Amino acid sequence: MSVCSVTSQIEIGSRSQPEDVLGYSYSESPRHCLTIHDHNTRPGYPGCTLPPHIGYPMLHLKSETGDRWLAQVDQHLDQMLIDHAHCEKKAAGTALNLIFAYVENLNLCREMTVIVNEELEHFHQVIALLERRHIRFRRLKPGQYGRKLNDLVRKQEPARAVDRLLVAGVIEARSCERFKRLADHVSSQAVPDQELADFYHGLFESEARHHSTYTQLAMDFAAETDVLARLDELATMEAEIIAAGEDLPRMHS
Ligand SMILES: [Fe+2]
Ligand SMILES: [Fe+2]
Repeated sequence: MSVCSVTSQIEIGSRSQPEDVLGYSYSESPRHCLTIHDHNTRPGYPGCTLPPHIGYPMLHLKSETGDRWLAQVDQHLDQMLIDHAHCEKKAAGTALNLIFAYVENLNLCREMTVIVNEELEHFHQVIALLERRHIRFRRLKPGQYGRKLNDLVRKQEPARAVDRLLVAGVIEARSCERFKRLADHVSSQAVPDQELADFYHGLFESEARHHSTYTQLAMDFAAETDVLARLDELATMEAEIIAAGEDLPRMHS
């Protein structure tokens, strides 16, 4: 396998985006095509189209999920799946709240409407998965990841809007990274769980696109250089939160 194998391409809408601004290479098509690179992509290696300074680990994240989380997955898979359903529901709520907060931004309203619908569809899919596995969907004590990230949101507008969008985008990025890690993990077992692997591979693209949408929308509220600098800060703090971990087995523990 080449070091820089492209795993998929997804459309990210019709907005004008400078090449590489979000950490990807793009096609030249009018509706830009987001190229998702393999987990093992190393920018700067021969054959890799990504510039050396971006694109790894992935989606602007500053760390990769380690084996500690996979051990939690192995021991508490049912709880992980239940928590995932809650995460999809919360993701829909976040997008809807952004419409209420910034209703005068029609572009944001359009993009959030798409995300609300997709997250609710994901919620529906996870609920169906739970039912097939005879796992009862129930309330769970939430993990601290979302609260810790939301505590980083600045209070004054428009910085508040930038941070709300970027925090949502960082959460999408981590979800995406973990979906891929989970899919690879369960498909590499002695007895592969192919249903789960296919399910999480299937979610990967839309969550990556959501990360891109949130990052792009933040540029409606601040200059691109300021948005990317703040994204770098938030991603660094997110990596610290992930490194600290937590005992409750959750999608973002
Ligand atoms: Fe989702
Ligand atoms: Fe999402």
